[in-house]
Amino acid sequence: MDKGHTEHRLDAGFWRATIVMGVISALGMWGVVAFPIPRFLPEATGISAQIDWLFKFMAFFSVPILVYVNGYILYFTVRYRHRAGTPMETPGSSVHDHPALEFWWTAIPAVLMLVLGVLSYLLIPQYYTARAATTNSITVEAIGHQFSWEFRYPGLRDPVPDELHLPVGIAVTIDVTSTDVIHSFWVPAFRMKQDMIPGMVVPMTMTPTQVGKFEIVCTEFCGVGHSGMRDRYVYVQSQPDFDAWYAAEKKKQASAPQEVTAAVLAAGDASAGQSLFAQKCTVCHNAAPFDQRKVGPGLGDLFHDPAHPKLLSGKPPTPQDVAEIVEHGLTGSMGTMPNAQTNGLSAKDVADLVAYLKTLDTK
Ligand code: CUA
Repeated sequence: MDKGHTEHRLDAGFWRATIVMGVISALGMWGVVAFPIPRFLPEATGISAQIDWLFKFMAFFSVPILVYVNGYILYFTVRYRHRAGTPMETPGSSVHDHPALEFWWTAIPAVLMLVLGVLSYLLIPQYYTARAATTNSITVEAIGHQFSWEFRYPGLRDPVPDELHLPVGIAVTIDVTSTDVIHSFWVPAFRMKQDMIPGMVVPMTMTPTQVGKFEIVCTEFCGVGHSGMRDRYVYVQSQPDFDAWYAAEKKKQASAPQEVTAAVLAAGDASAGQSLFAQKCTVCHNAAPFDQRKVGPGLGDLFHDPAHPKLLSGKPPTPQDVAEIVEHGLTGSMGTMPNAQTNGLSAKDVADLVAYLKTLDTK
């Protein structure tokens, strides 16, 4: 051994550190096994328990990898640190060639990855590609928008905005898509997540097993209003409750005026419009001057703005012409605003919004 180059052996300290890490790993692995996931997040579909099992399987083996990799980094950093009095140009320690160790730290993770791959392959496709096959099943469409959700049911004239109702215990296939950019439909309590891709319909099949209200979250950054695409819920209901909701929804849709006539427009309610504006419009519009843009222009001075005497549709700012944009949407120089159906607005809602926008007109 030449001077200045110290060959370190793995000494007793190394094996002591290894045993300490073993104990920490064992505690962590026990914690993973014992952790009661359903106490914090309901297992609300048939697949949930299996997904949780797969998650625990991964977490169980991740604990020792985490502990040993980081533990040895810490141990070697401290054990072979530069010490006062040693010349700066002293070569570092060299510990190398431990074939048995190298074999096992390669073989064990490789086998784990393989097992994980096979388990995922067996579990995931049955739920993401199979459609509900029984006659007693339903199909629903879920459509993502910037920045809202839309759910369509067979037999309902209009889409239902931002609320998904499902009967408990019935297999459901949700056909998932988007009209603008990629969103991602995620119900954490269902343990299922699917990107909503424009031009592509992806079926997700599941059976809700628990009555309750579960949050829907968009998990794909889809624009300035992305963070607003949560705090919306799936309502899993008993069959009688679901039937009652469906009947009420159908009745409501049938009685809602379909056309924004002059009479409907004249009956607009500004205070109802104000709360609608907060729910439906504020992700894209401020109730402020034109230049305070979000996605679209500020709408505070819509009816009297010397700098913008005309609407983006090129028409004068009359209530009828504003209503036309809210009702039919607009594609113009500043982008696209979706129509009333997409935004889940009835004819009365359009009238209420126009009435509210009129009240902003202070000039
Ligand atoms: Cu939609 Cu993020």
